[in-house]
Amino acid sequence: MTLKLNEKYIRPFVDEKELASIQSEISAAHKVLLDGSGEGNDFLGWVDLPKNYDKEEFARIKVAAEKIKKSCDVFVVIGIGGSYLGSRAVIEFLNSPLYNTLKKDTPDVYFAGCNISPASLKELLQICEGRDVCINVISKSGTTTEPAIAFRVFRALLEKKYGVDGARERIFVTTDKARGTLKQFSDEAGYETFVVPDNVGGRFSVLTAVGLLPIAVSGVDIDALMKGAADASDAYKATSSIEESDCMKYVAYRNLMYRQGKATEVLVSYESYATMLNEWWKQLYGESEGKDKKGLFPASVIFSTDLHSLGQFIQDGKRNLFETVISVKSREVDFPIPYDEANVDGLNFLAGVELDEVNKTAMKGTILAHIDGGTPNMLLELEDRSAYSMGYLLYFFEFACGVSGYVLGVNPFNQPGVEAYKKNMFALLGKPGYEAQKAELEARLK
Ligand code: PA5
Repeated sequence: MTLKLNEKYIRPFVDEKELASIQSEISAAHKVLLDGSGEGNDFLGWVDLPKNYDKEEFARIKVAAEKIKKSCDVFVVIGIGGSYLGSRAVIEFLNSPLYNTLKKDTPDVYFAGCNISPASLKELLQICEGRDVCINVISKSGTTTEPAIAFRVFRALLEKKYGVDGARERIFVTTDKARGTLKQFSDEAGYETFVVPDNVGGRFSVLTAVGLLPIAVSGVDIDALMKGAADASDAYKATSSIEESDCMKYVAYRNLMYRQGKATEVLVSYESYATMLNEWWKQLYGESEGKDKKGLFPASVIFSTDLHSLGQFIQDGKRNLFETVISVKSREVDFPIPYDEANVDGLNFLAGVELDEVNKTAMKGTILAHIDGGTPNMLLELEDRSAYSMGYLLYFFEFACGVSGYVLGVNPFNQPGVEAYKKNMFALLGKPGYEAQKAELEARLK
């Protein structure tokens, strides 16, 4: 089985009756998601996407990826939130967080426009010096400040280096199919464009061109990724039964935890290659459920690293959290622990033992310790670290998120809360039309 939810370490924390009683709510939410009768139903394009996608564009993505691979050393992906987290999660999970330092026949992939840090931008410009560069600017709205600034900078760099005509061959744009200034600008400039479908929100867009182009450039098999997601969609759409569907089991347990007063779900992995997957998941659940003064706070850790920091809190701090642990079952590397004649560290009892075995044993020991400390654990067992399994996992979380949001009683597909900071920032920066707010905000900052 590609993905299995092991409930052994959470079941003792849940009353049998509670589990049975949430079934009807889950069935109702599952139906609302599939028949499109709930709030936010104009953003359900992702539900059928793994099968019902634009095949012509998919083929074009592959061609563009090959062209990019051949023509640059550095590929800069410009986007923020849902316009970068998915591709980065997949690239780093399937390759390595050290992807850019590995020997490989694909360009180094860097991300820009995902913050407003001058230091990061300057550093990336230095990295690009003397190297061939292509960029992919990704923005559904086409007006988001962070990527717009980075696009200005990189467009200028490319035009200076290659001329306007040369730059045109190196700029790829992923945006709305018809609306928005970025689409209009790209058409006028002659850039190749890809589409963020109208009915797919940013955080659900990893399996559109938003995610697929950068992922393909990194060398990942996007056919296998889509196949994994398609098989997951068949499995999870077929039944809303908690018994039969691990996806619905996940929805059940996290909502029961929430009702018990657990405020935080911690996504746990024992591999640093999952760091950006954690970030993608945090956006998916944070933006989908954190509204109307409701929702679990999505947090994440990488163990064993964080066992030496947040591990203390999880073991022993305020009992208001639970963990969802992702474990990759297959062993992919042979890394036996070396024998050391001097045995100064006393570790010769581990000589010859695979590092993977030690890592998985650390996981088992930690889960038992944490449940003894009162932190329930769900264990998500992923078959292997392949593009197929990754696609399956992405869809698992997306589908669970849609159903879970409806069980919680929110619209999982809007994000009204992300606008507040933008208004204040624009007002303080003196954007025309924001004069009244500017004066009021400045007075508050004095
Ligand atoms: O999930 C979302 O909708 C957001 O995180 C957006 O992806 C993010 O704000 C970027 O928006 P845009 O693609 O319009 O630049």
